[in-house]
Parts: sequence; structure tokens; C-alpha cells
Amino acid sequence: MDISTTLNTAKIIIAIDGYSSCGKSTLAKQVAKEKNYLYIDTGAMYRAVALYALRNGFISQDNFNQKALIDSLTKIKVSFSHNSELNCSETYLNGENIEKEIRGITISNHVSKIAQVKEVRAKLVEIQREIGAEKGLVMDGRDIGTVVFPNAELKIFMTAHYKIRAQRRFDELQAIGDDITFEEVLNNIVSRDNDDTSRSENPLIQAEDAIVIDNSEITQGEQLKLVLGHVNNKLSH
Ligand code: DC
Repeated sequence: MDISTTLNTAKIIIAIDGYSSCGKSTLAKQVAKEKNYLYIDTGAMYRAVALYALRNGFISQDNFNQKALIDSLTKIKVSFSHNSELNCSETYLNGENIEKEIRGITISNHVSKIAQVKEVRAKLVEIQREIGAEKGLVMDGRDIGTVVFPNAELKIFMTAHYKIRAQRRFDELQAIGDDITFEEVLNNIVSRDNDDTSRSENPLIQAEDAIVIDNSEITQGEQLKLVLGHVNNKLSH
């Protein structure tokens, strides 16, 4: 096989980590579309487990029965399916489409606690590695470049000022009709940043070889161009 064919068909893993609500999934979807890669939103997987825990009464405002959740992990099946009408991937919990339900503030308020459970992480990381075995993947989350795919060919670490992130999230939630104040969204972002970076299991940290993108003051188009430049650079080496 001639070398140019090898380069053109080579597929890589693109790991996108970063803080809550800084547009990881928007960027990841755009990159996946451009390169015809699979996109996996790992936050949705933690959100799906949080929904299961809520529905089964394992977690509430004041209580969290971790043991009951851990004992039930074998009963939880999280998967993705492509919605051809909307041309996007949607999240399923035990065969039920839960894409809309997991995006609301109720799940956002509980999911950090779920993401701290070692056994939950182990289960989801295993699924994520299986999905990525063939490469040709853009995966976003908090530990993708550090734990799930430490050998990912390209690692991006995204950040933006917390007030800008809160405003973007607030706008999104309003658009889906969530009855919420800006203050609530801001508090949720601050507390999730704190939980994500301080937990003992796979905290959010920047991989040493990650490229940092602060998108507080750049447009989505500028950001995409920048990242595609890095992707194409990796693909040509
Ligand atoms: O990206 P998101 O806001 O949908 O993620 C939901 C929660 O899941 C967030 O509080 C952090 C956690 N998470 C994680 O711990 N590890 C990941 N790989 C992805 C998300």
C-alpha cells in the first residue's frame, strides 16, 4: 500500500475534556461531522445513570444510597442510537430514549454525585473504551484524555470564564422551556466545577499533552477552524 493511502485512511481518537458548559459537545459534534467520525458524549452516560438513580429513589436532595446504585449497575444499560430525522445521536437507558429528560437542571443537580462513584466510572469507562476500539472517534467528557484514552492522538482541553458558561447554559435551558433563573444556573456551574476538579476518582485535570482552548472570546467558527487545523496536522503525520 502506498504511504499516501495509509495516511488518508488513518483514523485517530480525539479526546475533548473540559469544564461544564464550555461547548465541548458542540465542538465535538462539528469535528465528528467534518471528519465523518463517531461522536460520543460521555456526560450523557453519567446523566443516564443519574436518571436511573433518581427514578429508583437511590438519590434525592439529602440522601444518596450508593450501595443500592452499585448493586443495580448490572441492570443499567446505556446506549446511543442515531436519529436520522434530526441527524444526531440520542441517549438510551434500557431501551428508552431519554435524550431530553437528561438535559434538565434536575439531572444536572445530581449527576456530579453519581460521577464520583468508582464503580459507576469503571462501568462507563469500560463501555467508552469498547466504543473507541476502532478509532475514528470524537469523545468528550472530563477524563477522556487522562483515563479513558491516555494515548489519544489528539487531546483538547476546553475552558471559558464561568459567567460566560453560565449565560450560554441559561440560554440553552430557556430555549428548551426549563423554568430556571440565571443564579441557579450559575450556582450549578460553580458547584459542578468544584465537584469535577476535587473528586478523588478521575478528577477533571488537564492532560500534559492537551491543547488548551479558552473560548470565552472566540466564535464557534474560529474554534472549529483551530481544532480542525490540529486534527489535520495529526492526520498528516
Ligand atoms: O458534560 P456534562 O455536563 O453532560 O456531564 C455531566 C456530569 O458528568 C458532569 O457533572 C461531570 C460528569 N462527567 C464525568 O465525570 N466524566 C465524564 N467523562 C463526563 C462527565
